[in-house]
Parts: sequence; C-alpha cells; structure tokens
Amino acid sequence: MIKKFLNLGLQPLANQYQKKPVKLSVEKGQLYNLNIFFNTKSKLVSISKRIPSEKMFNSKYPYRSSMSHTMRTSFKNLSKKIKKKFKPNLLLEIGSNDGALIKNFKKENVIGVEPCKNLARITKKNGYLTYDKYWNFDLATKIKKKFNSVDIIYSANTLTHISDLNTVFKSIKYLLSENGIIIIEDPSLLECLKKNSYDQFYNEHIYLFSAIAVKNLLNNFGFEIFDIENLSTHGGSLRYYIKRTSYKKQKISYRVNNQIKKEIKFGLHKFETYKKFSINTLRSKKNLLQILNKIKKDKKKILGYGATAKAVTVLNYCNIDKDLISNFTDTTPEKIDNYMPGKNIKILRYNKDILKNYDYVFLGAWNFKKEIMRKEKKYIKNGLKFITHIPYPKLIN
Ligand code: TYD
Repeated sequence: MIKKFLNLGLQPLANQYQKKPVKLSVEKGQLYNLNIFFNTKSKLVSISKRIPSEKMFNSKYPYRSSMSHTMRTSFKNLSKKIKKKFKPNLLLEIGSNDGALIKNFKKENVIGVEPCKNLARITKKNGYLTYDKYWNFDLATKIKKKFNSVDIIYSANTLTHISDLNTVFKSIKYLLSENGIIIIEDPSLLECLKKNSYDQFYNEHIYLFSAIAVKNLLNNFGFEIFDIENLSTHGGSLRYYIKRTSYKKQKISYRVNNQIKKEIKFGLHKFETYKKFSINTLRSKKNLLQILNKIKKDKKKILGYGATAKAVTVLNYCNIDKDLISNFTDTTPEKIDNYMPGKNIKILRYNKDILKNYDYVFLGAWNFKKEIMRKEKKYIKNGLKFITHIPYPKLIN
C-alpha cells in the first residue's frame, strides 16, 4: 500500500531558474502540489508528481557537478579506488553531467550518458565518448552492439531522478558483463530523516533511497548489494556496490547488514517514523520563519548562499520571499542573474566581497557548510552570522 506522509505545498520545478520575476500559476502547470509517499511493501519513498524528463533534463540544465571542490574531490578519490580495486576495461556512467567523474579516466576506458545536451557537449568537446540520450533499453542495445558489455556501470545522483526504475535496471542487466559491478550513490533516506532535511524532496528527486528499499528493488532483477559506504556528499549519501546474485566470488561485506540494521533501528520500515518526520518538518518551518522574521524586524539583511534546488523547496514551503532573504549568490554561470523559482529572489554572481553587503547568510547549500565556512572565515571572524535549518533552524558562527 502507498501512504502519504508529507505535503510540502505548491512548488515550482526546482531547477527552472527564471530569467525575470514571474508569478507562476497552477493553471499553467508551473506549480504542483508536492506530496511524499511511503510504500509499505517495497519500503520505497517517493513523490507523487511525475514531470516528464524532457521538461526537467534538457539543453538548459543548470546543475554542474564540477562546481564544488567537495564533489570534485569525491569523484577523484572514487576513480582511484575503482581503478585499483576493479581495474575496469570499460566503465559507463549514467548521468555523467559535466564529466566530474569520467575525466579521471582514460578516454578509451569510459562512456558517458548525459541527456542534458549543454552538459554532454562539455565532455564531448573534451574528447570523451558521450551519448546525449536518456538511459533506456534502446540506448543499452545500441551500446551493446558496439562494445558488447561494460564492466562497471556507475551512477551518482541520477537513478533517483528516473521514474521507471524497472527499465533502468533491465537495461543495466542487459549491458553489464557477467561479473560486472554496479555502483550507485544517492542521498540517504536515513540521513534525510535524521537531519530533518525535508528539502531533499523536489520534483527531480522522485525517490529517496534507503538500503532496505534498494535491496528489495534489486531482488527483482537478480542483483544484490555487496558493500555500502557512507558519504558526506549531498548532506549524507550512500554508495551501493552491487553485483549479480549469481556472481558468488565477490563476497558480501558486513557493512551491508550493518546499514540495514541501523535503518530498521531508526524505523525506516515503518510508516509511523515518516509521520514523525512530517511533524518535525512543520516545526522546522515555524522556527526558521521565526528567526528570519526577527532579523527582518531588526532591519538586517540576509543573503542566501547557494541557489540550490533544496533552497527552492525551503522558500516555497516556508513562503520566504525577498522581504526575508534579499538575494541569493551562486557560482554557477547558468544560475547567475536569474531568479529563484516561485519566490523571485535574484541570484547574484558570487564574488569574494559580496558578503560585505549583508548581516546574515542563509545556507542554501548547507551540505557544503564546511567548504563555505572555510572560504568565508574572514567574515565570520568579523561577526557575520550564518543561518541554517539543518538539523533544526539556528544561527551558527
Ligand atoms: P547542491 O547542494 O549540489 O544542490 P542541489 O540542491 O541543487 O542539488 O548545489 C550546490 C550549489 O551551491 C551549486 O549551485 C553551487 C553553489 N555553491 C556556491 O555557489 N559556492 C560554493 O562555495 C559552494 C560550495 C556551492
């Protein structure tokens, strides 16, 4: 049975930054009701609304993996590990974005798949074979004809964006070599609930995976998890190492059961846990608004740092407009001089002096708190205060 546990109100498409301030409407399909559900059988958590992929992942997609030091380092370390441990002849990445991972491999050893043409163009230009297509059975067939099979299929922060997981895994199964490995990383549902980061939910994040749900899902395809790593990226992610159940030589790590036990202990298999999360979410909204309103009353100015998709969920759920947060700042060229969807707060180009004009910073990219606070330590020393809503709304300095 599928049961609803959270409503995050009317939301715009998260990554559709607006060229000019516009009032979005439900009638024109620009706003939708963001409801979150729990499947009591498969234990999968998902949003109800399905926006066609073409509307979300097109030639203007603004998210770039290489924009942060944290992500570049994470991909670099993983590439070293993959080369050492698995020595793949051929690795395929589903959702290769701007090449943050594949650029760490020799060109003849990797294939990128990236439907956002603006991003695929970047890796193609750098000489990496990239299919600017959606991951599906047709594409797997095309690649199989050319390469026969691939040894590793990697995908970070992408599979949770694809509605039809059956096609995803059917296509992977078709192309992966007999002893091939799948490596998937995505935000962890356990971390999301622990940190009360309700902003992990937006139209692109159709699913938020737990190890319990991934295990159940893989079971349908003859795959199993053989190792799990906890990562700090995206506010706490899990990296799943997966193999065919028939590939017995690859041993299963104790870490898999450890993670599942932790999730069960927290209650991720029970609906009541999600009801509690929805109460915490409402409390988080009230407390954040209290902090922001107090600052407004004191006639102080707040800058949003990191015009993230997550921040779009927060602004629209909490009804925060430019009266409360004057501007956002971001380093991504595709976002600069645009407006936060739904709330029309202008995104300014980041420069090292920008913080001079503000009294407080709201951490839109709270998942990069360490990186950002290190970068801005001069201002913090001089009294600039940061506001975060994770794990609960508070001021930090
Ligand atoms: P991310 O948290 O991955 O976003 P999302 O919620 O959209 O998945 O994106 C981080 C954003 O923050 C990205 O737009 C780049 C921006 N950013 C800066 O502008 N400056 C920084 O120092 C860092 C670390 C990120």
